[in-house]
Amino acid sequence: MAVDYTTRDGVAVLTLNNPPVNGLGLSTRAGIVEGIERAQNDPAVKAIVLTGAGKAFSGGADITEFNTPKATQEPTLPTVIEAVEGSAKPVVAAIHSVAMGGGLELALGAHYRVAAAGAQIALPEVKLGILPGAGGTQRLPRAIGLEASLNMIVSGAPVLSEKLADSGLFDEVVANPAELADTALAFARKVGAQAGAHPKVRDRKIEHPNAAGFIQFARNTVVAIAKHFPAPHKCIDAIEAGVNDGFDKGLAFERECFTALVQTPESRALRHAFFGERAASKIPDVPSDTPVRDITQVAVIGAGTMGGGIAMNFINAGIPVTLLETKQEALERGLATIRKNYEASVKKGKLKPEVMEQRLALLSPTLSYDELKQADLIVEAVFEELGVKEQVFRRLDEVAKPGAILASNTSTLDVDRIAAFTKRPQDVVGMHFFSPANVMKLLEVVRGKETAKDVLATVMKLAKKIKKTAVVSGVCDGFIGNRMIEQYIRQALFMLEEGALPAQVDRAIEKFGFAMGPFRMSDLAGNDIGWAIRKRRYLEHPEMHYSKIADRLCEMGRFGQKTGGGWYDYKAGDRTAYPSSVVNDMIGEYSKETNAQRRKISDEEIVERLVFALVNEGAKILEEGIASKASDIDMVYLTGYGFPLHRGGPMLYADTVGLYNVERAIRRYAARPNGDAWQLAPSIAKLAAEGRGFNDRA
Ligand code: 3HC
Ligand code: NAI
Repeated sequence: MAVDYTTRDGVAVLTLNNPPVNGLGLSTRAGIVEGIERAQNDPAVKAIVLTGAGKAFSGGADITEFNTPKATQEPTLPTVIEAVEGSAKPVVAAIHSVAMGGGLELALGAHYRVAAAGAQIALPEVKLGILPGAGGTQRLPRAIGLEASLNMIVSGAPVLSEKLADSGLFDEVVANPAELADTALAFARKVGAQAGAHPKVRDRKIEHPNAAGFIQFARNTVVAIAKHFPAPHKCIDAIEAGVNDGFDKGLAFERECFTALVQTPESRALRHAFFGERAASKIPDVPSDTPVRDITQVAVIGAGTMGGGIAMNFINAGIPVTLLETKQEALERGLATIRKNYEASVKKGKLKPEVMEQRLALLSPTLSYDELKQADLIVEAVFEELGVKEQVFRRLDEVAKPGAILASNTSTLDVDRIAAFTKRPQDVVGMHFFSPANVMKLLEVVRGKETAKDVLATVMKLAKKIKKTAVVSGVCDGFIGNRMIEQYIRQALFMLEEGALPAQVDRAIEKFGFAMGPFRMSDLAGNDIGWAIRKRRYLEHPEMHYSKIADRLCEMGRFGQKTGGGWYDYKAGDRTAYPSSVVNDMIGEYSKETNAQRRKISDEEIVERLVFALVNEGAKILEEGIASKASDIDMVYLTGYGFPLHRGGPMLYADTVGLYNVERAIRRYAARPNGDAWQLAPSIAKLAAEGRGFNDRA
């Protein structure tokens, strides 16, 4: 049974017991109703305490049940809350650790609430593309007022229980969580002895001097931040309905919105991202109880663009870092950049100056490998040349203590070859951070042939500590993310040859939801980077067909923003991309020279070719076992490449379109000019034939 029932001195204690977070799945819901009824029928019971076992009061509705028959099977959550609220004997919710979503809604149905300090209180449904569907939009405003509840519901952000001590939500907040149970029991005994009806949140009034104005203000704010998501708007609508039409009508409207939102592609995408993030940390053949190595000292080799950002991640998490360079000036330059980054945060008010100093104090610059002897993890971020990596790894092998993890931040080199420079390849792993490394959430953890399982387990755990989304990739050129983006860029360039212009391609894909199209992005990163990669490709893969149009641009010296011009023109001190007649003429000329028939390319074709190029390569990456699950690929794209969150990543998007349709489109493009770039991944055809998708769970 997912709910335990015990009695103590005239109080029935209902304890939700559905690990890990007491999700309100069908059996838990049924258990609560049963417990409430049992308590009604026991004359010795005068009051009821409702609490949660383990690490939560309740994390809310069981998200895995959404869109399954169980979600709507009685008792539904509204029925459960009605039973709690309708109990003739007073119900006291004893809240600790986490009361979120349906968990908080359940507590709002109780007559009284006692909370332990430190509990995270939230209605985070909006982050899953829905709104609170069991009275949250109606009861929370009645408990804590319109403004505070609107903020909580529209942002979904957690608030600590002690901050809500005077809000009207809690009857008592207990400073010491260990005393919660006794305090709640004593409270229950007290109210159980009181005659008369017990208070219900639904009966309270929402008082606000200018509710309409405030709601309009919230609406204006949300328009700017929730462009692609319907849920925040619906949250406001539901709260407004409760303000204007009263509790019952508000509740009915909220339910209607919930039922509609839970079926939207946006909600599916957000739920996919929620589970995808958690699934990414699970590696199929590395059990979750694999012992991990202690990481209390980190070293970073190279204080350049990446090394500095990587070091910041660790010192931000309180882990001391030794930063090694070959020359004093390089070291000083690196340290100055780190300081400048922190100072910028201090200036914006995001960081206290004393915290900046505490962090900087954790950084020990050095020119000597002797200083690395204590490091538990050493991350190399030196020049991208195998010879330099060899030098560094041979030296690390000599000085690092036994069991130290040796990581490389290489973006293109073979981690197995790097591991082979040492006598301890089992301790070598790739940690591929993204630039700027202190900001970007993504970390590709590159698993070499010999990387030990406990090394992987350690790095995945550490990634959580430094607040990264870590995704494991096998060894291949470009790993997951860059290998896929290469196909995307290839298509973007082919489309220029065939009739499109940079601004059209960017506009189409930005309308789809990408923050930046391929050409604006390339101008920002520097067109010379892609040029260098292509030159290598021409040697390594002469059989591979690339458009040379980007080489032509580089030959004109147009490397992007840093040279004042790339695919677009730029004005000094202005990052706006202005379409360039010089470039557009060059593109026309190039098409002529190569006898390409320029034609009008639709926005739909642009989006399909760019996104399906990602999907097709992603499918191959799965076939080869480079990624272990489709959601890992989606997490890479959502956290590292600006793929629109409301579409859930390329693989989920392909499922939404339907793999049958994806296959047809790829076959169609394969039969056209530049069609040799489309080699359909066999798994797409197979899944399409079986009527399945990459992510059947979402
Ligand atoms: N339903 C189903 N599974 C859930 C869940 C939920 N509501 N909340 C968490 N889980 C699962 C996670 O998937 C994870 O499973 P795994 O171990 O198999 O990967 C496990 O519980 C532990 O989760 P975390 O790793 O996130 O654990 P933390 O301790 O770091 O965080 C938490 C706990 C703060 C509760 C966090 O899990 C969380 O934010 N959960 C989502 C809360 C939420 O959005 N609730 C609203 C649900 S919708 C709702 O209630 C609708 C209602 O209005 C009708
Ligand atoms: P960078 O040129 O900015 O920095 C490299 C630093 O390493 C320089 O400060 C240099 O002095 C130092 N260095 C060189 N040889 C050294 C040695 N033997 N010992 C100690 N320090 C040495 O380069 P960047 O961009 O930081 O790249 C570093 C690594 O990170 C490369 O492997 C690169 O491929 C990878 N990477 C780069 C990304 C980017 O966007 N710049 C993204 C992800 C990975």
